[in-house]
Amino acid sequence: MDETYADANNPTYGARFPGGHQDKFFELYQKGVEIGTWDVEALIADAPVQQDKTEWKRMTDEQQLVWSNLVARFLDGEQNVAIDATKLVQMVDSPYIDDSANKEAFYTGLQFEEVKHTQFCAWYAENVVPDQVFPTIGKGSRHGLSRLDDSSKADHFSERIEDILNTAVYTKQPHDIARAATNYGIFTEGVRARVRYSHMKEMAEETDLRTWLTAIEEISTDEGRHITGQVELIKELVEKEKDGIADYQGVSDTVLTQLQDAVKLLAKGALGSIFQMQIVKDERLADEEFDDQVDHHVKLRMRYLNDIFRETLALPGYDDDNIELQLRAAIDEIRGSVPDTEAFLATIEHNRSAAQDLREYEDGIGLASRPGNR
Ligand SMILES: [Fe+2]
Ligand SMILES: [Fe+2]
Repeated sequence: MDETYADANNPTYGARFPGGHQDKFFELYQKGVEIGTWDVEALIADAPVQQDKTEWKRMTDEQQLVWSNLVARFLDGEQNVAIDATKLVQMVDSPYIDDSANKEAFYTGLQFEEVKHTQFCAWYAENVVPDQVFPTIGKGSRHGLSRLDDSSKADHFSERIEDILNTAVYTKQPHDIARAATNYGIFTEGVRARVRYSHMKEMAEETDLRTWLTAIEEISTDEGRHITGQVELIKELVEKEKDGIADYQGVSDTVLTQLQDAVKLLAKGALGSIFQMQIVKDERLADEEFDDQVDHHVKLRMRYLNDIFRETLALPGYDDDNIELQLRAAIDEIRGSVPDTEAFLATIEHNRSAAQDLREYEDGIGLASRPGNR
């Protein structure tokens, strides 16, 4: 390649730095090309699919309810990120971001991988647990089914992260990019998804859905790269703040404000994990054991948060003791209003029957059979 073309003023892809320095984002993109191309069709062909189907039939109604809810949430979550990745690619095409072409390459790879994750989850929902997976909560429709309205919910987290991403795409300002990358890279992928993977592995000791877990292993390897890249993106902004560059001042505070915002969601997730486990194990914990579980789940979430905020980003304003206190307080507060596993089950059951009503209604007016609606 002509060296003058591979100059900082001519953004291109790859290692274009003197001395063979490799750009981290291009490295991640390249790693994805090398190992992120596992093939969903091939995985399905080799997987013990019949084992999953047999296991599904063996499960109790309650276990099926919990797993079908999880499959639905994964399917929806993967597709959401796959769609949003288009905007993430646009977002990093920003004058405030160095070597943006390499970041675009990284997010393009992320999008390809998220589409594959969606492909697997959709196949699983159609073939292993047909008619048991119901649409989750959110705006619009997915897989030919309208999703349940979440206007009654207090947090509106998914709507808010969408608004924040749209703003970042529009302004391309450091603070808006930091906010969006924090939501996707830290909360959605770095903490919530990671926690779910380890939780599903624990659940699999009781309910052995081997094909699902095999794919989840592959998916979580891809997600590892997604987290690394997005945390690096935030780190780049924070370093510019530390260097005293005016446009980036206050970026770490912006990131930490997002953290405050996510505490309630992390608390809900922690309780949800405990309730799901009790249902899968078909045992209800005594108060003391329940408290131990709360402790376990708080520590798990804090470990992932500390990894990112303290070890990698080294944000001076990050106070882990304070965040942990807030997380525990939020859990106590939610326990006051959603007190137990039965209430949790009732919520999923309610969503399922509401989704079934909606499906029947849409079938009735011919919406579900509309071409292209699957
Ligand atoms: Fe994914
Ligand atoms: Fe991802």
